[in-house]
Formats: sequence, C-alpha cells, structure tokens
Amino acid sequence: MTERATAIAHPNIALVKYWGKRDIPLNLPAAGSLSLTLAGIRTRTTVLRADAYSMSLGGEEIVGKKAERVFAFLRRMQALSEYKGGLRIESDNDFPTAAGLASSSSGFAALTLAADAVLQTEMSPQDLSVWSRIGSGSAARSIFGGIVEMAAGERVDGTDAYASQVVDENHWPMSCVIALTTTGEKPYGSTEAMNHTSDTSPYFGPWIESVAPDVHEAKTAIMGRDFAHLAQIVERSCLRMHASAMAADPGILYWNGLTVEVIHHVRALRKGGLGVCFTIDAGPHVKVFCAQSDEDKVKAALADLPGVQGVIATRGGPGAYLV
Ligand code: DP6
Repeated sequence: MTERATAIAHPNIALVKYWGKRDIPLNLPAAGSLSLTLAGIRTRTTVLRADAYSMSLGGEEIVGKKAERVFAFLRRMQALSEYKGGLRIESDNDFPTAAGLASSSSGFAALTLAADAVLQTEMSPQDLSVWSRIGSGSAARSIFGGIVEMAAGERVDGTDAYASQVVDENHWPMSCVIALTTTGEKPYGSTEAMNHTSDTSPYFGPWIESVAPDVHEAKTAIMGRDFAHLAQIVERSCLRMHASAMAADPGILYWNGLTVEVIHHVRALRKGGLGVCFTIDAGPHVKVFCAQSDEDKVKAALADLPGVQGVIATRGGPGAYLV
C-alpha cells in the first residue's frame, strides 16, 4: 500500500492562450491551446494518507476557498479508488504563488500525479492530463514536457479534452525569461475572470474563433523553427486574449504601466535584431521567449529596465514526474 507519494511538476506558459470554457463543472476549454513547459521553476507536492483532509502550501496551513477547491477535486478523484480515508497535501512552489506565474498549472499537475500514486488509480498520461484539467485547465499541459498542445475536445463528458506533446524540449532549445513587474498577488483569479469574459465580452466569440487557426499556425512555425513567425502568433494570441478580457463588462485589466513598457522594450529589442517575443497571463508580469543562446542578453536587457522587480530565467523542460 502506498502511504505517500511526491511529485514534481513545472509550470507551463501558453504560446497560444486558453481563455474561456465550454463547460464549467467539467472545466472543459472552449478552444485548444499550445504551451511550453518550463524547467527552472517547479511545484513539489506530497500526498499522504491521513485521517482527514488538510493542506499546506510553503509550510503554511491552507483553509477556506483555496483548500476547498483542492479537496473537492481530490474527492472526485478518490471516487475512483478503494481508499476511503482522508488525505494530507503538502505542497511548495519555488516561485511566487498566485502572481500570474502559472502556479495552478504545476500545482494541479503535481497533485494529480501524486494522488494517482497514493490512490492507486493507475492512470495513463492521458488520464492524468484529463484529471489535471478538471483541477485547472492549464494543468493538463504540465503533465507533458516541451511544447504541448491542449485539445478542446468535442465530447460532452470531456474525455477527449486532454493535452499531448508536440515536440520535446530538445527540438528547439528555448528560454522563457519572466520579468516581474510588481510584487504581490493578482487582483482576480483566472477562473472567475475568464468566466466573466465569456459572460459579458462582445469580443469573446471572435477571440475563441481565432484560437484553432493560431494553434495550427504556431505548430507549423515550431516544426520549421521559424521564430519570426512564432513571435507574430504568440503576441497576437496574448493581445487578443487580453483584449477580450478588457472588453468584458466591467473590463478586466491585468497590466500595470510597467507591463506596457516591457512590451515596447521587447518589440524594440526585436527590431534591433534579437529573436524575442512576449506573452502575458492573468497577471502583470511579462514572459519573454527567446533562443537559449540569447537568454543572458535578454535577462540583462529586462533587468536593466527601471522598475523591474526581478527576472527569472526558465527553459523548456520535462513533464511531471514522481520522485
Ligand atoms: C491566462 O488554467 O488557471 O494562463 O481552468 O479556470 O483553472 P482554470 O484556469 P487556468 O487559466 C490559465 C489562463 C492563462 C492562459 C493559459 O495558460 O493558457
């Protein structure tokens, strides 16, 4: 009997964004997405058999809404298992949590993998991706390494809404340099914000229509290692996602002034000949993709910008694994 298991998962950053659901209870995405799984930052999660449900994050006990989301997810997974007792979760991130750095992607991927081991549910990588998606849509992608595609799926039960690897992290050695534009947590979580966008934004429909062609085109650019083409798609996907959110009622604006300055800086660097492009998630930080050979240059260029709180260099990395 497995009493405890520990899993490590890396966050992923979407090249083509996920923003909107076709089913809320099953957490089914309204469109596909494409991402890079990042080595260099990680979530480590241990799941242990226990008398009751409890959870700590970074050594601090978590109660309330955040914990309830996790426990509800685990109860659903546990319905597949013979084990009827409680579970304790001990998790930590080596990067700021809930700041728009995709901690829910690595969080639910690590949790699903460790829980699968403790609950002895013996899931395939595809099942693990489906279950991670139920926890958080972006987490479905962190089960796999390198460049990963999430399928929107068509079935109402969501069994075809899972991620798969497009190419591994060695196909095109890429870095993602994160420029931190502020400290602290983001004002609104991605789940509520994307639901608010789909409920109230007149741009939501056009946004969703644009995703499948972008995923297709981005995969072509990746297969051909065509950075200029990829950069064009990555930036427009990010800007269209944020445009749909900004057009909600009331509008959702994740950016601060520095976010905009970093965008201009990245475009100036590209004009100057550096292969860089930006993306922004549900927070004010800017993530800059580049070739690993340009990582130091990009790090220095971003760290030099007045106001930038720090830079974190990450690289394409592996999927989730048990330790
Ligand atoms: C902006 O995966 O956090 O990072 O499924 O509601 O948990 P839920 O949403 P989540 O949303 C991620 C949104 C994003 C874009 C992306 O990662 O594709």
